[in-house]
Amino acid sequence: MFPKVKGVADNFFDMPYWSGVIKKIEAHLQYYNFSQINIPTLEYVSLFERGLGYETDVVSKQMFIMQSKHAESDIKDDLICLRPEGTAGTMRAFLENQSNITCPARVYCYGPMFRYERPQKGRMREFHQFNLEMIGGASILYDAQNIKMLQTLFEQILQVPNFILKINFLGESNDRKKFNAAFVAFLQPKKSSLCDVCNIRLEKNSLRILDCKSTKCQTSFADAPKLSDFFSDTSKQEWQLLQETLQELSVNFEIDQNLVRGLDYYNKTVFEFVSVNLGAQNTFCGGGRYDHLAQQLGSKVEIPAFGCAIGLERLIMILEANRQALTLQAPTLTCIIPLCLAQNKLALHLADYLTQHKKTVEVLLDDVKIKNKMKKAHELKATWTLLIGDDEQKNNTVTIKNMITGTQETVSQKDAILKI
Ligand code: HAM
Repeated sequence: MFPKVKGVADNFFDMPYWSGVIKKIEAHLQYYNFSQINIPTLEYVSLFERGLGYETDVVSKQMFIMQSKHAESDIKDDLICLRPEGTAGTMRAFLENQSNITCPARVYCYGPMFRYERPQKGRMREFHQFNLEMIGGASILYDAQNIKMLQTLFEQILQVPNFILKINFLGESNDRKKFNAAFVAFLQPKKSSLCDVCNIRLEKNSLRILDCKSTKCQTSFADAPKLSDFFSDTSKQEWQLLQETLQELSVNFEIDQNLVRGLDYYNKTVFEFVSVNLGAQNTFCGGGRYDHLAQQLGSKVEIPAFGCAIGLERLIMILEANRQALTLQAPTLTCIIPLCLAQNKLALHLADYLTQHKKTVEVLLDDVKIKNKMKKAHELKATWTLLIGDDEQKNNTVTIKNMITGTQETVSQKDAILKI
């Protein structure tokens, strides 16, 4: 038997549950004028290098990269990869199609993402995201609106238990430049107490040090200058306005000054929905504003944007208690059972007739004992079985058995449709 690749999962049994959750999210989004798009799973590596940042973990360590067989691109290197996230691809697709798009464009898509990480509970190499983006909307009030939309989704529609919304504000690049200088100067003398990763970050991307989970690193920067100390007046006003508006919209949130997120395209608002029930990998939705990504990907003008991604595996895990209510119900099944091989063709015709009339049908054609076929009908959870033997074939009838009550009657084949 072939094993599956490390860090991926089969989903043989849970799809009705997954589809039920996805349907609820989609139904909610339609009230906010979101529409569905689709983007490729394969993209050029350079899209993510430019979009997410060379120094991010996702780009520097986690991409599944392959050489395109034919050097057919005009891009210098023709390395392609399995998408590690959906935002860069959505923005690329937006830029290619923007002449036909009216902004703000609120779009969503869902599907597999790929990151080469050490697998553990809630962390897969192939996982699924429900990705939401609003492209072309500069007002910080859009951030409040979208966050409120997510809070309603999680709290009221899906009834996620025990979650916290964490928010931070990263200001603008000038604010961060000033902060970086002060932060690096503060940490230089403490270099030896930082972990190896943070020592590299100190050189290349010091903001990410705030994300470190090591207690030693956290202690080292506990008294460091704060990013908010370096906000311009505009940043201060926007951050204030965002907090006020969220409060007015009755959104409960915690400010986490160390929340910086792992991708470099963010500016201003960043946020994460965190579950108390998930263990180490506890963020089930994360996102923020990314006003400069379009330009990083070649746009001549700034196209402000905001978005987030829900980790579907993690969401599915925390909704376990509501599984039954969220699972799509299977349709009523009718099982057609020819008693001998001689009735197989008739069974097939009857199955075709019933499916044309929108009935869900299974037909048991293999040559096994009738007792075994009835057992199988039970295992398949059929509500009805239609039995066809010599007599039924001769008289154009069928014997219908209600598998729940055990009652049965013989009716004309034509009338069977009226009974099930
Ligand atoms: P992210 O924080 O990298 O953001 O991923 C979003 C969510 O995907 C995480 O909060 C988590 O629930 C889930 N996730 C990430 N990696 C894994 C993994 N290895 N296994 C299972 N689940 C995982 C983004 O991807 C951004 N593109 C979000 C965004 C959209 N920002 C703006 N627009």
